Amino acid sequence: MYSILHIDSSIRKRVNDNPSHDSISKRLAHSFIEKLKENSSIKAYQYRDVGMNPPPFTDQDWLGAVFTPQRSRSEQQRQKLAISDQLIQEVKVADIIVISTPMYNYGMPAQLKAWFDQIVRIHETFSFDLNRGDFPLEPILSGKSLVLITSCGEFGFEKGGVRESMNHLAPHIKTLSKYLGCEQVFEIASEYQEFADLRHQNSLETAFVETRSLANKFA
Ligand SMILES: Cc1cc2nc3c(=O)[nH]c(=O)nc-3n(C[C@H](O)[C@H](O)[C@H](O)COP(=O)(O)O)c2cc1C
Repeated sequence: MYSILHIDSSIRKRVNDNPSHDSISKRLAHSFIEKLKENSSIKAYQYRDVGMNPPPFTDQDWLGAVFTPQRSRSEQQRQKLAISDQLIQEVKVADIIVISTPMYNYGMPAQLKAWFDQIVRIHETFSFDLNRGDFPLEPILSGKSLVLITSCGEFGFEKGGVRESMNHLAPHIKTLSKYLGCEQVFEIASEYQEFADLRHQNSLETAFVETRSLANKFA
């Protein structure tokens, strides 16, 4: 049984009056969660749709509050960090973090980046020590798994693919996931959405199958 943190980030809803507008990444993540539920693998479930309700962007006051020792923070600084504290707490208690994301402009949506920016925070999710030489950052959290579910309009973003060098989505999230305490990453990708052809249909069907088999692996 796992404690799940599920983050969706598409600006589209999972279900719309016109089904062709439904978010593919949210549908895939939903399928994964439904299969986990069916297998009774979930002991706690937290959900955030940062596409619909994005966390605020960080700013200089946020940074000032982060670098002020906890006991010296003003009430205003504590308020400034309240959302960050809450989001970090949600990460801390999770065993599996499920992130579903579209590719926008070859990377993640700004809304999802805002979520990461609130969470990857000194003394909370990483430590910084120059005695470590050229790699002073170390994650504080550990032992979690990331399930990364992506959807894109084009194709060939995988290793060796024709657009590998244009993929700033999965590589970026995988790098950041270390600072969420994720030690293993499972990736499911649907491609070809913009072509709306058989290749898209096949890619989507394969991705749905993968969501269910991955959930079974966790059972
Ligand atoms: C603003 C915007 C930017 C996009 N940029 C890219 C892109 O850079 N590369 C790509 O392959 N697809 C791109 N797409 C297509 C989406 O990745 C694709 O429609 C995906 O299915 C969206 O995820 P969703 O179905 O979960 O909403 C873009 C779509 C939008 C709306």
